[in-house]
Amino acid sequence: MVRNTQKFSRLRSLGIVTAGASVLFMGLTAYNNQDNLCGAFVMPFVRMLPAETSHNLAVWACKYRLYPASDHTDDLNLHSSFFGRLVSNPIGIAAGFDKNAEAIMGLKDLGFGFIEVGSVTPLAQSGNPKPRVFRLVDDRAIINRYGFNSDGHQVVMQRLKDLRKREDFNAVVGVNLGRNRDTMTPIGDYVKGVFAFGPVADYLVINVSSPNTKGLRDMQGKKELTELLEAVNAARAKLKTNQNVPILLKLSPDLELRELIDIVSVINNKKCRIDGLIVSNTTISRDNISDVSLANETGGLSGEPLRERSTRLIAQVYSLTKGSIPIIGVGGVASGADAFEKIEAGASFVQIYTALVYEGPDLVERIKCDLSLRISELGLPNVGNAVGSNYLKYLP
Ligand SMILES: Cc1cc2nc3c(=O)[nH]c(=O)nc-3n(C[C@H](O)[C@H](O)[C@H](O)COP(=O)(O)O)c2cc1C
Repeated sequence: MVRNTQKFSRLRSLGIVTAGASVLFMGLTAYNNQDNLCGAFVMPFVRMLPAETSHNLAVWACKYRLYPASDHTDDLNLHSSFFGRLVSNPIGIAAGFDKNAEAIMGLKDLGFGFIEVGSVTPLAQSGNPKPRVFRLVDDRAIINRYGFNSDGHQVVMQRLKDLRKREDFNAVVGVNLGRNRDTMTPIGDYVKGVFAFGPVADYLVINVSSPNTKGLRDMQGKKELTELLEAVNAARAKLKTNQNVPILLKLSPDLELRELIDIVSVINNKKCRIDGLIVSNTTISRDNISDVSLANETGGLSGEPLRERSTRLIAQVYSLTKGSIPIIGVGGVASGADAFEKIEAGASFVQIYTALVYEGPDLVERIKCDLSLRISELGLPNVGNAVGSNYLKYLP
């Protein structure tokens, strides 16, 4: 009886995924040339599936490159120097979409300037029990408590190695590092990450800001962060190749000003050098939410309700660091105007995730076109000239 029920449940899941994939594929093929086809046709269907199923489906579609590749050529005014690499635009996909580096080529097809995979943990782990992802549709938001489900270093590292051997590989790829839930050596987990991915990544991210692993965000404290950043710097110095791989630190949007001041004092210490900051991860606050039924779900909130909070933090960080460290701005970006706000507040680059769930992959091109238009209307030669141009406006 139990086996029959399990079998039925598995068949049902398979049916949903297969039907979903077929409709997704047919929709993408049939409407290839229509503007915002995904927003109008495919995305409403995909949103009828449970959130995690549609996430898996989207990763699968990217993995097999089912989304039509964008034939858009990025305007010259979006070309940017990204930690020493030239990228044709400053818009990236944030960590958490392609956790296991399966979908990089498909994401590149969508027109992203850079791709961040992960978070990856040293050992494979399954994360928190399901359900663990919730769509707050009216709020254009998501709450997730995945809890670092990861294929682990070995598997993800092999995928990246294989990818780099391909002749058509041309993406800029960052690897976001996490730690195992039950690790006895939290700092050691990040050191392992530097050794594993330093040689195969264009940048590394130290993620101590996800709210779904107990004690993780405490590693942003002054003493803990100093030890952590000293250790990852020492590990980087021991790399046999790619010894200058940029290391970025991803921050929580729930930090208070005094905590932020501590963090800036740590990263100003030479031994704790980092090359950039990612601002920000998801929030545990529940400000600006209308969907009260889901607001009580534990986890990190992303999307529109996070937008202002993360922009404020970008401006604070920009102000405290006097613009000396490049910032990747992330949180609730759903349009060119939102991306421009992050840039004016101090971000040199912008990432998106949640809005993609609601708008579909055409969003990438729309953001780029709008951003480029804004830059030229302002008479600026390049998007870089707008970085931090209005940060005072966003300071609390
Ligand atoms: C479902 C989901 C999973 C995520 N997983 C990760 C993760 O593994 N590591 C990480 O650093 N950030 C993760 N994030 C946070 C995003 O990278 C991003 O910082 C945040 O969602 C804010 O951007 P957005 O409002 O555009 O989604 C996740 C976000 C979502 C929605």
